[in-house]
Amino acid sequence: MHEQTFAGRHVFVAGGSSGINLGIARSFARAGANVAVLSRSPDKVQQAAESLQALGAQALGISADVRDAAAVEAALRQAQQRFGDIDVLVSGAAGNFIAPAAELSPNGFKTVVDIDLNGTFHVLRLAYPMLKKPGASIINISAPQGVNPTLYQVHACAAKAGIEMMTRVMAMEWGAVGVRVNAISPGPIADTEGMRRLAPSPEALRRATETVPLQRMGTLDDVAQAALFLASPQAGYITGAVLPVDGGAALCGGRDMRSSYVPRSAA
Ligand code: NAP
Ligand code: COA
Repeated sequence: MHEQTFAGRHVFVAGGSSGINLGIARSFARAGANVAVLSRSPDKVQQAAESLQALGAQALGISADVRDAAAVEAALRQAQQRFGDIDVLVSGAAGNFIAPAAELSPNGFKTVVDIDLNGTFHVLRLAYPMLKKPGASIINISAPQGVNPTLYQVHACAAKAGIEMMTRVMAMEWGAVGVRVNAISPGPIADTEGMRRLAPSPEALRRATETVPLQRMGTLDDVAQAALFLASPQAGYITGAVLPVDGGAALCGGRDMRSSYVPRSAA
């Protein structure tokens, strides 16, 4: 999208130290934004911040766990002190693995829901007082599991469905103050941790690709361009939307991951 469209804007990306979310952070950096990225690993956030600085952006890497509300609030405050109120908030921290419900421990289920769903609530709720109102834009990162029941993904399906509903409710509650809340639902995106976990063999990758109507995996840039659009004035009348960026994959129902499942005792 347009050069320097986000010049001087503050973009905060939760889960922004790798993969799809770092791709989004990079695109905002190229468009002139000041970018803060948050994730657990101090090394990953440091490297992510350096890669954003190498693109010419002012960037800050903050280590925090989205499950820890106090740590999220402190991280947001640190970013606000550096870059001012937040113009664009991206919430994409997530964890996932293939596991049949009957083998999944209560803590395994809780862990994914805590990171994806409760973490997203923490990020949005605690950022709300620091958003630049009116005009701020929030983008949550969902997945096809948010709408399509998917075998061996009960944890991710529950978490992402919750994120999609949270997107709609927050859009209704915060629309009156001029804050837009949308989500992106990426399909299978090449060279990401998500695909390494959910399609861990060449055969699984082939199956994941052939079920996509556009017959290819997505790229980091496919998702990043959608994020730039949703945050831009061109999307100024769009709120409460979940935008699939998936080559049509979600139209074909949930992927069957059973053949990629490896019991942990055998791994
Ligand atoms: P990824 O590289 O593993 O991204 C996940 C990010 O979240 C990392 O930066 C990770 O960094 C951070 N994170 C994980 N747990 C965290 C926690 N408790 N607190 C704070 N940060 C945490 O994976 P990805 O595949 O790019 O996925 C990114 C997003 O896209 C996720 O929301 C995922 O559900 C969604 N998605 C991915 C695909 C795909 O094809 N890959 C498809 C659909 C949707 P740390 O390890 O440092 O915490
Ligand atoms: N299958 C079944 N259960 C699993 C599992 C798997 N592959 N991996 C972890 N779990 C369970 C653990 O057994 C534990 O439950 P228990 O206490 O009953 O044994 C629970 O999940 C928490 O595991 P733990 O390793 O302590 O969690 P963590 O907070 O350190 O890490 C994860 C969170 C498990 C989601 C980890 O995979 C992660 O950090 N993922 C981030 C990267 C990622 O998933 N990227 C792709 C995004 S789509």
